[in-house]
Amino acid sequence: MDRLVIEGGVRLKGEVSVSGSKNSVLPIMAATLLTDYPCIIKGAPNLRDVTTMIRILRSLGKNVEFEKGIITVSAGSRMNFVADYKLVSTMRASFCVLGPLLAKLKKAKVSLPGGCIIGVRPVDLHLKGIKSLGADISIESGYVLAKASRLRGNRMYLGGIYGSSVLATANVMMAASLADGKTIIESAACEPEVTDLAEFLLKMGAKIKGHGTPIIEIEGVRHLRGAEHSIIPDRIETGTLMLAAMITKGDIIIRNAFYQHLGALIDKLYEAGAHTTKSDGSIRVRPKGRLKPVNVTTLPYPGFPTDMQAQIMSLMTVTPGISVITEKIYPDRFMHVAELNRMGAHIQREGPHAIVEGVKSLSGAPVMASDLRASASLILAGLIAKGTTSVSRIYHLDRGYENLELKLQKLGAKIWREKE
Ligand code: EPU
Repeated sequence: MDRLVIEGGVRLKGEVSVSGSKNSVLPIMAATLLTDYPCIIKGAPNLRDVTTMIRILRSLGKNVEFEKGIITVSAGSRMNFVADYKLVSTMRASFCVLGPLLAKLKKAKVSLPGGCIIGVRPVDLHLKGIKSLGADISIESGYVLAKASRLRGNRMYLGGIYGSSVLATANVMMAASLADGKTIIESAACEPEVTDLAEFLLKMGAKIKGHGTPIIEIEGVRHLRGAEHSIIPDRIETGTLMLAAMITKGDIIIRNAFYQHLGALIDKLYEAGAHTTKSDGSIRVRPKGRLKPVNVTTLPYPGFPTDMQAQIMSLMTVTPGISVITEKIYPDRFMHVAELNRMGAHIQREGPHAIVEGVKSLSGAPVMASDLRASASLILAGLIAKGTTSVSRIYHLDRGYENLELKLQKLGAKIWREKE
């Protein structure tokens, strides 16, 4: 197992380029199951989750190559309809092979993914949507068995107690693309990753309208063809780098960044005292004056992303004053709080709220990453802490950030990887 070691205190400066979006590429890879024709996905990040999805697609009978950011998927000799527990349990995004497998093969057996450290994470909305398309669903020995000789388009409401669901919307959109007739998803997720998937499906010949809004209409077609697509930049990596600039009082230019996907974060950073400027696919970030505390509530897109909650909390730990951070997507996503407190932060958790009292400085410490975004928040804290921070269990980071430490090194950070 590797750990990252950081010597804090360097102001980051320079330019860095963002990788393709993890949460975009994973469902798009699943969508290649909808066709027998070759698909080419460009700008794919080299991440552990991508490798896992490659293994899943191969286990389902696809030929997959991945070289220099280009994933090529083509038909193997025979497709398999079973997505095994060993693979699905390691990555929840793999559950979105259910819709495409069912639509293509008329049956699918996909392991239930189970919960994870950030919460219970049920799949009821996925199953509700797939059932609405006329599938027969049963659960046996930890697997979802879905069958349908023909899927039929339908109108459905896919909102849950925490709002819309990104991957349930993706799952249904993919299945409905090959269903008979029209499907209308109400309370669909509006995240840019859902829009990117819709763009890929459109290139495959699907008929989709309204993606990017809460009402998506899909007119089913008989067949989908192969397609070539470039993945959007990772907005969460972009946001994490923006916060790295802010927390170190640096000045950085982030290339391959979509400003328009980051409205809620940019608004909060402005309130906190950031100066951000956009030009031609890049964003420059630097603080202007003293940092100010901000209250943040995570919400489905275009609200403040839950995947940036841990990172903005790190910034607030060293911002004078009190800030309240409320988690409305995963109310238990606070594993980073105890670790940040080990570095000298003053954070008190009260249910879905974290009350952060800014301190003058953090002190480097050995800390443990519990999930992907928590790892990023600890690295941010390490960048500003006095002394040395070592973040263990860094395999979480490798699931979703491509070469983060190399990118930070390029900006001047003293950060390196060691074997534990
Ligand atoms: N939910 C249900 N029932 C369902 C599905 C979801 O109640 O059937 C709940 C969830 O428990 C949660 C809320 O709905 O409270 C939203 O979850 P959503 O389904 O949108 O999450 P997801 O699609 O499983 C994706 C990202 C997550 C990101 C969330 C929210 C991927 C691969 N994952 O997960 O990314 O946090 O949307 O934006 O796209 C990450 O990258 O670190 C990460 C966890």
